[in-house]
Amino acid sequence: MKLTILGGGGFRVPLVYRALLEDRADGGVTHVTLHDLDAGRLDAIVKVLREQAAGVPDPPEVTVTTDLDEAVRGADFVFSAIRVGGLAGRVIDERVALDEGVLGQETVGAGGISYGLRTIPVAVDIARRIARLAPDAWVINFTNPAGMVTEAMSRHLGDRVIGICDSPVGLGKRVARALGIDPERAWFDYAGLNHLGWLRAIRVDGVDLLPRLLADDDALTSFEEGKIFGADWLRTLGAVPNEYLHYYYFNRESVAAARAAEHTRGAFLLDQQQRFYEQMRAPGTAPFQAWDATRLEREATYGADVREAVGGGERDSCDLESGGYELVALALMRAIALDERTTLILNVRGRGALPPLDGDAIVEVPCHVDANGARPITGDPLPDHAVGLVISVKAVERAVIHAATTGERAAALRAFALHPLVDSVAVAQRLLDGYQKHVPDLAYLRD
Ligand code: G6P
Ligand code: MN
Repeated sequence: MKLTILGGGGFRVPLVYRALLEDRADGGVTHVTLHDLDAGRLDAIVKVLREQAAGVPDPPEVTVTTDLDEAVRGADFVFSAIRVGGLAGRVIDERVALDEGVLGQETVGAGGISYGLRTIPVAVDIARRIARLAPDAWVINFTNPAGMVTEAMSRHLGDRVIGICDSPVGLGKRVARALGIDPERAWFDYAGLNHLGWLRAIRVDGVDLLPRLLADDDALTSFEEGKIFGADWLRTLGAVPNEYLHYYYFNRESVAAARAAEHTRGAFLLDQQQRFYEQMRAPGTAPFQAWDATRLEREATYGADVREAVGGGERDSCDLESGGYELVALALMRAIALDERTTLILNVRGRGALPPLDGDAIVEVPCHVDANGARPITGDPLPDHAVGLVISVKAVERAVIHAATTGERAAALRAFALHPLVDSVAVAQRLLDGYQKHVPDLAYLRD
């Protein structure tokens, strides 16, 4: 079975490869093709993979290419994990917004809109090529902003594209740990959009344990979401929101902390990643060690902006081991390829699972997965406050997709102006001007 990874020179690829090495089931991946625009990044990552495979019997064979069509042909699965504009683009997404006094984050708010406007034209081109060259392939989209990118791709690939994110799984694991239960035995009633979801119940043997968690201050503040939202707010809400909702519920504090910080997350990573890829070119570097040290630093500092906004603190050591994206992706691939039935929280066309959104809207909900793909499971309806946010943000996503696929600048302006975290049309106009000035890839947007 052939797996193609787009963005194959990306830093997290060794996590995927490690998961493949640990998964030796028959019918699994035998061949991995890494595609990237940058051959130097591919070289660096291949060095790490070689070291990972040393001593493992019959590891998946790895080939690299900078030719997209060649990468896609013959693929059974395609992981799309690209970053259009690189980390330098991420810094612009953050900075232009922060300079206007609104949230500057890669997936949420104005930054996410800019990132989407840059990424969707590329993602749609990829989707079209896959539909033509590998029509039977399943596409697992890691590319952010995952909700809108998956929705844009689904217009060409239908249900063969499935978006993934590690944050709902991470939330489930953390909540299970706080409750002292095995996450495998629990049913997590989670629903929303990507980076905009709520955990409304944790059912074990038919009993919802969320009320017990909400009543226990110590348990509630023992994990990341409890710490950043605070026990009182979680009780008031009656749910545990995805960590990204911190940017909504504590917007003022998030923006103030980000503006006061010396670096944005993107600027930190731009520097860190440049050093890593340079190090990999230098003679005498031990590839795996260099990669793993960089990974640990990246994990330890993940979400530091949010923790900073609530007064600082270290990341929980239990959260430092990866096991997010790559494990969701692998579980999904296995379920489809080997017809192993499972349930995963995924980004798929909702088919009515999240009313009142229409059936084609990509939503993030638990899904039944097997050889037929992923089918969303309808849970309890979301409360009105959550539905309101979901509808607003979906309208923004669709304005971005419309702008990205037609080049209509007015649609891009609508996206910025209607986002709940952009507080004035005048700000939206300046944001669009600012992004167009700094991001050459947005020249396609015209009046
Ligand atoms: C989480 C989110 C991803 C996001 C990543 C950013 O895993 O679910 O969507 O890409 O964080 O991590 P980074 O290390 O790039 O800040
Ligand atoms: Mn994510």
